[in-house]
Parts: sequence; C-alpha cells; structure tokens
Amino acid sequence: MFTTRELQDEIIRLKKEKDVCILAHAYQSHDIWEVADYVGDSYGLSKQAAMAPQKTVLMCGVRFMAETVKILSPEKKVLLSNAQAGCPMAEQMDVELISGVKEKYPDYTVVAYINTTSELKTICDVCVTSSSAVQIVKNIENKNILFIPDCNLGRWVADQLPEKNIKLLQGGCPTHVRMTVRDVEAAKTAHPDALLLVHPECLPEVTRRADYKGSTTGIMDFARKSDAKEFIIGTENSIVQHLQYECPDKKFYPLSKDCVCHNMKLTTLADVYQCVLGTGGEEISLAPDVMEKARRCIDTMLTLGQ
Ligand code: 13P
Ligand code: SF4
Repeated sequence: MFTTRELQDEIIRLKKEKDVCILAHAYQSHDIWEVADYVGDSYGLSKQAAMAPQKTVLMCGVRFMAETVKILSPEKKVLLSNAQAGCPMAEQMDVELISGVKEKYPDYTVVAYINTTSELKTICDVCVTSSSAVQIVKNIENKNILFIPDCNLGRWVADQLPEKNIKLLQGGCPTHVRMTVRDVEAAKTAHPDALLLVHPECLPEVTRRADYKGSTTGIMDFARKSDAKEFIIGTENSIVQHLQYECPDKKFYPLSKDCVCHNMKLTTLADVYQCVLGTGGEEISLAPDVMEKARRCIDTMLTLGQ
C-alpha cells in the first residue's frame, strides 16, 4: 500500500521515465496539482497543450479538454485520466441543433465556448474560454454573434460589449447555476468584509453582484494579489481549498457548499497513477476530418486571443 506522498513520488518518477506531460485543470484536487507539469484554466491548458514537448499528454480534467489537446497535437498520444469525466454543458447542444439555428441566422458569426464537443466545433467559427471570450468577441469584425452554449457567460460578454448584437441559446453549467442571489446575501451577511469573486458561468444576477468576475485562473490571481483578507469564492469549491493552501494569511469561503463539479471530481490520484503506468485512462481518438475542421475553430481562438 502507498501513502499519498509515495504514490505522488511514483507518479513523478514514471512520468519522467515514460515522457508523459500531466496537465491538470484548476478544479482538480490538490494531490493531483502537486504531480502536474501545468495547472490552469481552459485557455492556459489549450496553450500549454500546443507547446508540451512530451510525446504523451495526460489530461486531468474533462473530455472536451483532452479532445482539445488531441486536436492541437494529433501526433501525440493523449489520455483522459478518467473515461467517465465529461462536461454536461458540452453535451447540451449538437451539430443538428446548431445547423438549424445557423440556417435561420446565416449572417451571424458562431462563437463556441470551448466546453463543446469536437463535432460541434467543426461547424463553429471560433472558440472562446472564460478568460478570452470578451477579447475575442471584441476582435471579431462581424457585429452579429451567435454565442453557444452558455447563455450566462454569453450574457456577461454581451454586458461588456454593447456594440455587438449577441444572440444566446438556453445552455449553461449545471454546477455554477446552483449559486443563487440568496447564497450571495447569506454569504455577505456572514462575511461582511469579504470580496465576492465569481466565475462568469454563474447566473447574471450573481455575477452582477461580484467584486471580480473571471476565469478560475483569474479568480486565483486576483485573490493572491489583493490586499483584502477575506474572499467569498463563486466557482467550483476546489478553488477555495487551493487558495487556502497558497494564502494561509487570508480566509476563503465557498459561495455555496453545493458548487461541486462531480465530473471534475471523478479523477483520483490512483487514476493518474494507472495512466502513467500504462494501465488506465482512455486514449483519445478522433476522426481526421473532425480534427481538421475543429482545429480551425481552436486556432482562431489562439490567434484572436493573443
Ligand atoms: P475556466 O477553466 O475557463 O475558468 O472554465 C471553468 C470550467 O468550468 C471548465 O469546465
Ligand atoms: Fe462542465 Fe461546469 Fe463541470 Fe466545468 S464546472 S466541467 S462547465 S459542468
């Protein structure tokens, strides 16, 4: 039997021996952060995936993230750490639905949140992530934008870009929409001096009450640099724990105890061990035409997001 520390040491030894790069989304648990080569938000992971020198990439996150790595590096072996880890939002809209909407709005540029399937990306014009969405939509020449699938993130973008005509569909993150204005009022009453930092996947009435809105990495950077001492965190609750480790002199409170993404939580350190050992995970395989078409959408994001 291994202790956590011994298992981590074994993973670190094996990943070097087998030339594996471990990428972890910020919502992964702290024991996984400690063995990762890079931890970040969706945008950071996409950029890092394109640069990783190793022949094998292990994605500790959800399926669309592993697929993005494969699309950017088709020559690499890409593993999803736990085959069950999907993003429910990415499954909300498919090619058939969006093809129909595109026929109704032919003069709109289709902007897809990166939390979409690779198949859906093949018929979209550009991808965005929470940290790049405003800048990318701003940089698009067309005034007419169809933003899918997250209407809450889309509303947040639209509020900042009144010059754009942004059409939204009814999709969103089931984890972030659990946080309500009631939660905001209760948390502010319990912690009157705390700043409220939220992810723009939250409901607009929650996002509008926040002192800072941004991606997971954005929230963490803000809290690290801020002179304030207390923060209410309106995103997946792992971020509360990570910040508490990093800033022991500050206090972090979850906006709601229910903000847990069960898909992000599926991956365990034992899964990571099995993957680097070569006996676990799912190797990502996508049809060549899907990879080629979806790549245009992701490449445009990386160009417009610079
Ligand atoms: P970011 O990593 O862009 O902050 O997005 C959060 C998220 O929900 C990823 O699935
Ligand atoms: Fe998907 Fe929301 Fe979980 Fe992110 S937090 S993976 S958007 S369900």
